Amino acid sequence: MSVNVSITVNGKPVSAEVDDETLLVTFLRDHLRLTGTHVGCDTSQCGACTIHLNGDAVKSCTMLVAQADGCEVATIEGVSDGETLHPMQQAFKDNHGLQCGFCTPGMIMSALDIVKQNASPSEGQVRDALEGNLCRCTGYTNIVRSILAGAKEMEAS
Ligand code: FES
Ligand code: FES
Repeated sequence: MSVNVSITVNGKPVSAEVDDETLLVTFLRDHLRLTGTHVGCDTSQCGACTIHLNGDAVKSCTMLVAQADGCEVATIEGVSDGETLHPMQQAFKDNHGLQCGFCTPGMIMSALDIVKQNASPSEGQVRDALEGNLCRCTGYTNIVRSILAGAKEMEAS
């Protein structure tokens, strides 16, 4: 069965008729070609597909796009203004928070949610909050360092 959805994605209104079983991540990647949102596990464990729904971080692989009807969605493509990196993106770059980069979009979307909830988190709070985001490359030290640096930069700006 098909369903009509109207969503604001990265500030732009989008309407489409989709199969009602379409996942939000599939809609973002395949219909809108916003391929920065990755699919790692497809079972809500790795966090590679993390986006913001009405300002909160959620895993888009375990949501139907129909559930996002009428909502505001933000993806990694909407984080930068297109000219300069967002301070959190810059912090990941400066602190070697990425290697292959596969987990990075989800990490950054989660990082922004962590900072939204607590402008100046401790290392322990960041580690706890990243429980749902897996990285196969790094060992997390530089990711945590990046988020702490990004939080500081965001607080200062
Ligand atoms: S792809 Fe969604 S949590 Fe892994
Ligand atoms: S940087 Fe490769 S999976 Fe995290």
